[in-house]
Amino acid sequence: MLFLHALVLFIIFVCLIYYYFTRNFKYWESRNIRGPRPLPFFGNIKDFVLRKSNAAVLNKQFYDKYPNEKVVGIFRMTSPTLIIRDLDVAKNVLIKDFEYFEDRGLELSKEGLGANLFHADSEIWRPLRTFFSPLFTTAKLKNMIPLIVEKSDATINHFKKITELQKDQDVYSLVQKFTMSSILTCAFGLDIAVDSEILLQRMMKIDQLSFSRTIANDCDLLYPGVLKIINASVFPKEVSKFFLDLVEDIIQARNGIPSDRKDFIDLILEAKNQGTILETKKNDDVGSTVKCVKLTNEVIAAQAFIFYTAGYETNATTMAYMMYELAMNPQIQEKLIAEVDQVVHRHNGKITYEMINELSYMEKVLNETLRKYPVIDVQRRAKANYNIPGTNIVIAKGTIIIVPTLGISQDEKYYPNPTKFDPERFSPENDSKRHPCAFIPFGVGPRYCIGMMFARIQSRVFLMKLLSNFRVETSKNTQSTIVFNPGRVVTAPKDGIYLNLIPRKSQYDTKNK
Ligand code: HEM
Ligand SMILES: *[C@@H]1O[C@H](CO)[C@@H](O)[C@H](O)[C@H]1NC(C)=O
Ligand SMILES: *[C@@H]1O[C@H](CO)[C@@H](O)[C@H](O)[C@H]1NC(C)=O
Ligand SMILES: *[C@@H]1O[C@H](CO)[C@@H](O)[C@H](O)[C@H]1NC(C)=O
Ligand SMILES: *[C@@H]1O[C@H](CO)[C@@H](O)[C@H](O)[C@H]1NC(C)=O
Repeated sequence: MLFLHALVLFIIFVCLIYYYFTRNFKYWESRNIRGPRPLPFFGNIKDFVLRKSNAAVLNKQFYDKYPNEKVVGIFRMTSPTLIIRDLDVAKNVLIKDFEYFEDRGLELSKEGLGANLFHADSEIWRPLRTFFSPLFTTAKLKNMIPLIVEKSDATINHFKKITELQKDQDVYSLVQKFTMSSILTCAFGLDIAVDSEILLQRMMKIDQLSFSRTIANDCDLLYPGVLKIINASVFPKEVSKFFLDLVEDIIQARNGIPSDRKDFIDLILEAKNQGTILETKKNDDVGSTVKCVKLTNEVIAAQAFIFYTAGYETNATTMAYMMYELAMNPQIQEKLIAEVDQVVHRHNGKITYEMINELSYMEKVLNETLRKYPVIDVQRRAKANYNIPGTNIVIAKGTIIIVPTLGISQDEKYYPNPTKFDPERFSPENDSKRHPCAFIPFGVGPRYCIGMMFARIQSRVFLMKLLSNFRVETSKNTQSTIVFNPGRVVTAPKDGIYLNLIPRKSQYDTKNK
């Protein structure tokens, strides 16, 4: 008898669980939107949940599977999510009707590190963005070039040292190390040796805590908003403490006044001393409220955290993939080396913003690298119901939208023979024919990457320094194809990237000896 009761209860329990994890699986069908059939609990992202596949790779699969649809409806666990395929729809969502899609849908806790530019929803995001945008203008970034050069030189010197012992190196973990300390210097004036082991160990730990995917993120996909409701932070205490201490130490070291380093902390200190309070404008259309953000040390620490995290892994992966493609395509490398030597020679080795802009072939190579290996897909969340113009599709308030950068940039339709590495895709003729949303490695619209210019400048400085001193060549350990790491948020290489670094003398150096 008891057994029977228990059995009945168990069956009811299983049914309830099943019902719970499949409760809205008719969501897209009832809206006439096509998409893959979901599995209980996992929805369509089983391989992602089980850490077998990177998110961008899965999104690309959904993108490829429905070539005739403008949008594809999927379930990330139980959360309905809309993948945008059509570039005009993407343009409406990201640019034209941006006020409906200001949120990324990642804000969890407003406390601590949550109040950062990347994760914050519009109430906090808008005043932050308005305040921080002027720090990233060309004029401000120009002043930072000497710092960037100094750090690139330090990196290259270290490369020289270690390649004397062994030419074959995992360039991905190499650049990863250097990027960590460089970004801290450029952004926060931390004067540390690029190869300081103690710092590296701490940063590696921070890296693990903040970049590896966590169970918390999965919970939020099963029950959207749960983390916000229980006021959980996905950022471990150790990480928030690290950045708060960092900011407090630096401010103290400068006695609270801007130094002459001209890094981000200086610019922030200037504003802080003027007592700046950041404020949101009211927008009745989408029902946003007025919100003030005071520039406290906590708020500054949250931005320090995001400049570090957003700047570091993106730089490291992009540089490593670029070196990989140069090694795989020696004729492209030779052409690039010739350009670097010429430009360096013309400017007597003096690196300025104007000089960097003369590296036009390098710019194409950089863009082609970002096309083939975009670091992350673009995400937004609808703030209100939104009717996609020219269709009868209504995106319901709260729906997450993904613009699959990787899928788009490897679509035959926009890039014939997409696996081929061909910088000429970015010739002026080809550029002028491209849809504005067909190449968006830094996102697009008002919420595009705030660090884009900074990233573009420092990538070119580093590559110029690298190719003035080395050639990259494939080694016996070089992979023939790149697999993206399923455990990371961005499209990082799973098993590193092994290349030989072969010292070379730039023509400029030999002529001027
Ligand atoms: C190769 C280098 C980089 C790539 C490919 C990259 C890519 C991106 C992408 C795709 C986004 C999302 C844009 C969108 O949703 O429309 C983004 C946002 C962002 N990036 Fe970058 N990024 C890079 C470097 C940097 C650097 C160096 C910094 C910091 C100094 C930075 C700071 C940010 C911030 C703060 C956001 C959030 C902007 C906002 O929501 O207002 N990024 N980045
Ligand atoms: C980007 O990576 C390269 C290679 O590690 C490094 O030299 C450079 O300083 C980095 N830039 C930033 C801003 O971190
Ligand atoms: C959320 O948690 C933080 C500490 O983690 C606390 O300071 C804050 O007051 C909490 N906020 C709410 C709304 O409960
Ligand atoms: C445009 O891109 C294609 C590769 O997609 C390339 O073969 C062609 O040379 C480029 N056109 C020009 C004018 O550079
Ligand atoms: C490279 O991409 C950037 C945007 O990421 C764009 O502004 C620039 O014009 C592109 N350059 C070329 C040569 O296509």
